[in-house]
Amino acid sequence: MEIRENVSLKSYNTFGIDVRARYFTEATNIGELQQVIQHQLFKQVPHLWMGGGSNMLLTCDFKGWVIRINLRGKQKEREEKGKVIISACAGENWHEFVVWTLNQNLGGLENLSLIPGNVGTAPIQNIGAYGVELKDTFRGLEALNIKNGDLEIFDREDCEFGYRDSVFKSRLKGQYLITKVYFALVPEKDHHPNTEYGAIQKQLESMAKLPTIHSVSEAVIAIRSSKLPNPKEIGNSGSFFKNPVVSVEQFHKLQQEYPEIVSYPVSEDEVKLAAGWLIEKAGWKGHRQGDAGVHEKQALVLVNYGNASGKEIEALSKEIQESVFRTFAVRLEAEVNIIGNC
Ligand code: EPU
Repeated sequence: MEIRENVSLKSYNTFGIDVRARYFTEATNIGELQQVIQHQLFKQVPHLWMGGGSNMLLTCDFKGWVIRINLRGKQKEREEKGKVIISACAGENWHEFVVWTLNQNLGGLENLSLIPGNVGTAPIQNIGAYGVELKDTFRGLEALNIKNGDLEIFDREDCEFGYRDSVFKSRLKGQYLITKVYFALVPEKDHHPNTEYGAIQKQLESMAKLPTIHSVSEAVIAIRSSKLPNPKEIGNSGSFFKNPVVSVEQFHKLQQEYPEIVSYPVSEDEVKLAAGWLIEKAGWKGHRQGDAGVHEKQALVLVNYGNASGKEIEALSKEIQESVFRTFAVRLEAEVNIIGNC
């Protein structure tokens, strides 16, 4: 295990923020992760586990130890009740993994094509898009207990998945490192692709294609590429905020004033609002201050046009939160992890 010093994190975070880590290690196997947690340095300085760096905003040089989890490998494990159990190690790139499952003619992950990030961080926020969430095909995961270095297995219930949420963001935050994830996928011949999301149906029609795992993936890639900036070209972390959930009562009040407000039912008492719509309506879409900006095609995405600092993007996000609150009395919560410790 190598410990490097004063390493730039610019190429390791999709926002492309140029800050440095005082100490930096790339762990490629479980043994190295166990060495890290037993190391003296681990007890002396703060630490930051990093996966694909696609859901974090670094606001300053990190004064402690950044450990990048780069465990690789994916394979078919077994068949179970007509499904195929697949495993993938934490450091596998999410989209490459999805493409691999499609090439094995397995369905279930096609709607989650082109989501940035790695396999190991996907369960933490239960990634989701176009009517599908990770939890729908999730079979279990293996995680390292940071206290004692033991590997433990979590099944779906143990993970307490919710909208962009899991037990690893709440009760067990900071206590486990996900090392491997298991999925139960369906052979293509038995799989019914989920095309309930209107944009997918429209895209398939415009491509004149029937829904198959490959065509749905293609449609998702086309929709995402048309709305969401490619982090390799413009730094970003996907949706910066979560879609807020409000009471039905508050929703009705808002609807009276804004009949065109975009919403999704959650339960009898709650409604989810499209944060992108709120931000656009409050006048922020396409706004730019210095190199920090609000994407011109999707207001939920904050972008770094080049040399924005994490602090500048954080400041912009705060202004947006205040403005949306003043306009709609709705609080936006960041979906991206904002990393301080300066
Ligand atoms: N909208 C606007 N203006 C905007 C953006 C959106 O009016 O600038 C409206 C759209 O017209 C649409 C609605 O808001 O009616 C929803 O927009 P979209 O379909 O783009 O989805 P979203 O709610 O903004 C969520 C996820 C995305 C995911 C898409 C598709 C969250 C926080 N975001 O975005 O996930 O790809 O649905 O399922 O739930 C991510 O988490 O990083 C991410 C990109």
